[in-house]
Amino acid sequence: TSDIEGDLSSVLYTEDEILAKIASVARQVEIDYAGKDPLLVGVLKGAVMVMADFARELRIPATMDWMAVSSYGSGTKTSGVVRILKDLDADLHGRDVIIVEDIIDSGLTLSWLLDNLKGRGASSVEIFALLRKPEAATVHVDVKYAGFEIPNEFVVGYGLDFDERYRNLRAIGILAPHVYA
Ligand code: PRP
Ligand code: MN
Ligand code: MG
Repeated sequence: TSDIEGDLSSVLYTEDEILAKIASVARQVEIDYAGKDPLLVGVLKGAVMVMADFARELRIPATMDWMAVSSYGSGTKTSGVVRILKDLDADLHGRDVIIVEDIIDSGLTLSWLLDNLKGRGASSVEIFALLRKPEAATVHVDVKYAGFEIPNEFVVGYGLDFDERYRNLRAIGILAPHVYA
């Protein structure tokens, strides 16, 4: 057990469990995108770990691109208005896009991103989200590839942060209340 792992009150998913889930999603994506050369769009920064592992697990050709977005009114995410901090390099015309995300919380980020990318002429836009908090959803998002459903707790690790920390944990866990109390 590392020092930062000691700040978790519990581990939800170990690295092995995460990688097994990613592998099962990859097997399905290989079938669904056979012969298609999908463009994987990662949402910085939370999705870096899941993108790295998912992309390397895929046994079909795929390319990667990245976006950074920010909700207006930092701190709260109630508006649903999203600002692009870093846009894609790729032209989406005719591409089969898979958005790769670490977590769907309220759903506002992905709901906005889905509409935005669909408006750029992509042939298809689907979502792979490793985690989803059903109890926290304020908007419905259609997720084709879903990983784990988790309780409405503060989770960190494997890309997910609290104040930019804990992204480098291999596991995903619930942050101990003493850390943010
Ligand atoms: C987190 C997370 C998702 C988003 C989910 O990103 O990585 O991108 O929030 O929340 P929502 O469903 O309520 O929109 P964050 O904005 O914290 O940026 P980060 O990825 O850089 O941590
Ligand atoms: Mn994010
Ligand atoms: Mg964050």
